[in-house]
Amino acid sequence: MTDINRQFRLKRRPSGRITAEDFDFVEAPVPSPGPGEVLVRTLYISMEPIYRLWLTDSDHDLPPVQLGEVVRGVGLGRVVASNADAWKPGDLASGMFGWQDYAVVPSPGVARMARIPADPPVALTTMLGACGSTGFCAYFGLIDIGEPKAGETVVVSAAAGAVGSVAGQIAKIKGCRAVGIAGGPEKCRILTEQLGFDAAVDYKRGDWREALAAATPDGIDINYENVGGAIMDAVIDRMNRGGRVVVCGLITDYNDGERRDGHLQARGNFIPIFTHRLRVQGFVFTDYAPRFPEAVRQLGAWIKAGRIKPIETVVEGLERTPEALNRLFDGGNVGKLLVKVAEP
Ligand SMILES: NC(=O)c1ccc[n+]([C@@H]2O[C@H](COP(=O)([O-])OP(=O)(O)OC[C@H]3O[C@@H](n4cnc5c(N)ncnc54)[C@H](OP(=O)(O)O)[C@@H]3O)[C@@H](O)[C@H]2O)c1
Repeated sequence: MTDINRQFRLKRRPSGRITAEDFDFVEAPVPSPGPGEVLVRTLYISMEPIYRLWLTDSDHDLPPVQLGEVVRGVGLGRVVASNADAWKPGDLASGMFGWQDYAVVPSPGVARMARIPADPPVALTTMLGACGSTGFCAYFGLIDIGEPKAGETVVVSAAAGAVGSVAGQIAKIKGCRAVGIAGGPEKCRILTEQLGFDAAVDYKRGDWREALAAATPDGIDINYENVGGAIMDAVIDRMNRGGRVVVCGLITDYNDGERRDGHLQARGNFIPIFTHRLRVQGFVFTDYAPRFPEAVRQLGAWIKAGRIKPIETVVEGLERTPEALNRLFDGGNVGKLLVKVAEP
């Protein structure tokens, strides 16, 4: 164990895309855990679009990261010292460890740390991806909110990304027609040839609306929405009466969306919502925390049976974390994007 803790601290609130100048990358001493606390070595940081919203000055599920604070982030780490009864050195856990090498987790945070078994049912990285929070979003969002029925058409946006790739594969398991929307021919090829989607629409092509219509000849019953904007509007235009819109995220607006009174404004295609009796529901995966064990069991079983294929992109090195976050907005990832901070 080194005695240096590299950390990204927020220097100023970003405008548009984040830049290296928005952060101080500092070296601090590795802290010692106090009573009831644990010290965790970060191994991987899960890259999530919502981090961009946490850098603004308004609440987005959690309060904003304050100037000078270590940037908040979900990670997978190994306990290196513990003053908490439930944890001992060597244990693996996921939790809010931040963009840093080492985190002292205070006792309320310790209570929220999730234990990762020493011999996880799937690859360690997948415990942050398809069998972790990403998979939980897809699982609860599609099944509980989308209520898919065999034969229905499910359209997933950002379908080659972390959440979308799992949501589409669950749609197939449930007997639905799965149509993914993604940027570029290579991502579309992955969806249909590797992940079993029935069709993929490349939204970077000029004729993507026609392609969406061709891919959804019976209309759309469920929209699993990760993107928002023009893509969501076009999907809603094709929804069948009684359809469900699962609002998982609206990444198109996170960097530079319009604001009113400091709050991000995302506009939507509301007319078909009432004329077609659509149900629109947003959620945050932590709403389902009491059911995480169920999701781990089911997702783990589907992954082991080859019915869900996890795909992941790993960026090496804590120092590249800001660059990695931008990749989510540039489409520079397939599947779950992780930063590897240290060897497990
Ligand atoms: N509700 C929750 O609890 C929860 C939890 C986690 C994530 N989410 C949300 O789920 C969504 C996906 O998150 P993720 O972690 O799985 O990320 P991801 O899909 O792995 O990465 C983001 C993808 O979004 C696409 N994208 C980015 N900007 C776009 C734009 N302007 N138009 C169209 N596509 C764009 C890019 O793919 P292309 O190459 O295809 O453009 C990119 O790869 C996000 O909206 C996120 O906020 C919600």
